[in-house]
Amino acid sequence: MPRHVAIIMDGNGRWASRRLMPRSMGHKAGVDALVRTVEACARRGIPYLTVFAFSSENWQRPQEEVSGLMSLVLSTVGHHLGELARKGVRVRIVGDRTAVSDKVNEAWTRAEQATQHNQGLTLTVAFNYGGRWDVVQACRRALAAGVRPEDLDEAAVARHLSLSYAPDPDLLIRTGGEMRISNFLLWQSAYTELHFTDCLWPDFNEVELDRALQSYARRDRRFGRVSEAGSAVREA
Ligand code: FPP
Repeated sequence: MPRHVAIIMDGNGRWASRRLMPRSMGHKAGVDALVRTVEACARRGIPYLTVFAFSSENWQRPQEEVSGLMSLVLSTVGHHLGELARKGVRVRIVGDRTAVSDKVNEAWTRAEQATQHNQGLTLTVAFNYGGRWDVVQACRRALAAGVRPEDLDEAAVARHLSLSYAPDPDLLIRTGGEMRISNFLLWQSAYTELHFTDCLWPDFNEVELDRALQSYARRDRRFGRVSEAGSAVREA
């Protein structure tokens, strides 16, 4: 079982268009899929789940869609925070919060504070997040903390990344059929196993999750080394 699963929740817009519904309905259905997935991961004992809810590039969407996504944060925190908190979920937000409205920041702070002592699954919501942004802010913070440029090594950068509290993701799932990372956890996914599915995010369910977990279980994770099977063949 992976300790950390990351998900790029793609396909909300297409899910809605196929039903002749506005894209906002796809995002709303995406929230339900997210809540289902958090519960399913918690039931399977997965300690960390990280989801890409709003990328640094998503500001370029039509203004109406952006403000719809911001309102969705407020209603999601309003409707689901109590239930997630009762289930022991700890919520954390990563991303550049300086560009996000006070209202949305307050909702995120409320979610973090209300769940900060919870011991169950840690749900990290990447919001106004970009992998390149994360590496730059980590370097800046390391230098500001007094690390000299000549001492800035991988460990120093990793200590200042926004997900420094979690192990690197073991499995990254992307729904919606595209096969790319789209500036998600660039540094942290150096050795992450990737799973792509055509399933649109609002349709994601336990069957799809188990498919991804089964695919992960079959992988031979070598982290740049020779596999045990490979070395046995060499020795034989
Ligand atoms: C990608 O689908 C999805 C997003 C940009 C938003 C993801 C957000 C959610 C699932 C809602 C949960 C977030 C909150 C409020 C916590 P798309 O719009 O790119 O779909 P498309 O590729 O079919 O157009």
